[in-house]
Order: sequence, then structure tokens, then C-alpha cells
Amino acid sequence: MSLKDKIDGTKLPVHVAVIMDGNGRWAKKKGNQRIFGHKNGVKAVRDTVEAAGEIGVKYLTLYAFSTENWNRPKQEVDALMSLLVSTINSESNTLMENNVRLKSIGDIAGLPKKVQQNLSEIIQKTEKNTGLTLILALNYSARWEILNAIKNIVIDSKTKDIEVNNISNDFFEKYLNTVEIPDPDLLIRTSGEYRISNFLIWQIAYTELFFTDVLWPDFNKEEFFKAIISYQKRERRFGKTSEQIKNI
Ligand code: IPE
Ligand code: IPE
Ligand code: MG
Repeated sequence: MSLKDKIDGTKLPVHVAVIMDGNGRWAKKKGNQRIFGHKNGVKAVRDTVEAAGEIGVKYLTLYAFSTENWNRPKQEVDALMSLLVSTINSESNTLMENNVRLKSIGDIAGLPKKVQQNLSEIIQKTEKNTGLTLILALNYSARWEILNAIKNIVIDSKTKDIEVNNISNDFFEKYLNTVEIPDPDLLIRTSGEYRISNFLIWQIAYTELFFTDVLWPDFNKEEFFKAIISYQKRERRFGKTSEQIKNI
């Protein structure tokens, strides 16, 4: 029985988020430059998108570049930006063929113009697709997103009647980049690091976490299915007791 056959189609996570980490270490281990690892990470992205689509996951968010990643050496940042442009272009047809709708979250206006142009073109092109929604987190950080939401609420409060008592979870979420995207059910982080690195802090309040030692370029469909199987073995209680969940 393959790993894929072990997946229960009735208990799928609707939204899976991934912190794709370990490209640099993967390359170093092979005696190569860090960027070699980033280039080899593209295949893992393709595999993950395909695997998510195959089993019927509806939303897949990939952390591709954090606000903090600007602090890396300029040469690496430049290489990552051009890799982003070339990958967006090379994958465009595959996204269309597989009915994938692309979206982005993060401070997109802070990205190089070329990245912005290519990104907005493909987002428009795939807008009407009805299969998997693939969300790229680019120049993203959760603290930026939350502060940005607060700033916009303050701006709106000058022209709209915002009652303090009406500032609920639902109200606040309308100001986040992830508006209309359900919270992740499962968060995967590769490369043996046990941290969140400023990713989706608000949205992962009740997300199941899965950590693997696999470095991102070695991640593939089988590794993705392992994470799904682990997720399906868990009991999500959301503060309730196990008995309540099982209805006993
Ligand atoms: C993840 O791999 C890719 C990005 C953060 C863009 P890293 O580049 O962080 O690889 P390590 O963690 O240094 O091995
Ligand atoms: C997190 O990886 C960001 C992305 C995967 C894009 P990092 O490699 O930047 O995380 P830290 O700095 O080790 O926490
Ligand atoms: Mg890293």
C-alpha cells in the first residue's frame, strides 16, 4: 500500500501551509553555493503543489521569502528574486493545465518591479481557475501583516463608524492579507528547525504543526503525504475535552 492510499479522503486538511527551509544547508552539504539549493528547491515546490492538488487540498500557502530575508547577502537576495521571476514564468502553463489559482500575501509593493509585474500577470491569468489555490508568501512577515491591519483600521476609523466593541476576530481578519482564506489546518516546516519565523502568527492559533528533518530540496510527494497522515492521526480539540469531541 502506498502512502497516498493511506490518506483518508474524508479527513483532509483544507489548508496546508509550508515553511520551505534548508536550501542553503542542502547545497553546502553537496559542496555548492547556497543558491544551488534554492534552484533545487523549485522541484520540491512543483511536487508539493502536485501532491496537494492530487489529494484534494484546497489551499496551499508556501513561505517563499520573509521580510527578514532582505538581510541576507545582496548576491543571494538578487539570485532569489530572479529565480522567483523565472519560476513564475516557467510554471505559468502548468498552473493553468492543473487548474491552480495563484494568490500572494505579503508586502508585494516592496518587491522589485519585475517580480511584481510577473506576479500580477499570472495571478490575473489564473484568477478563474477552480482547483487548488496556491498562495505565495512573498516579502511576508506576520508582524508586518498585523501592524498593517491595525494601521488600516485606524485609517478607516476616520471615515467609518467603527465601534470598539465590534472589533471581533471576524472583523480583524478582514484586514489581514489572508481575508477569505481559511486558517491553515496543518503547518509543515522542513530542515529540523522548530520555529515559526514570523509566519502567519494570527492564523496558526489552532493549526497542527509538523516538523521534519528533511531539507527542502529533498522534500517530495511522499514527504507531503507523511505529513498528511500524521495530521489525520491527531485529535483537534479546540479547547474542548476529548470526550466532547468523540461525543461520549
Ligand atoms: C529556505 O532555505 C529558503 C528561503 C528562506 C528563501 P534557506 O535559504 O533558509 O536554507 P538554510 O536554512 O540556510 O539551510
Ligand atoms: C523562513 O526561513 C522563511 C522562509 C522559508 C521563506 P528562514 O531560513 O529565513 O528562517 P530563520 O531565519 O532560520 O528562522
Ligand atoms: Mg533557513
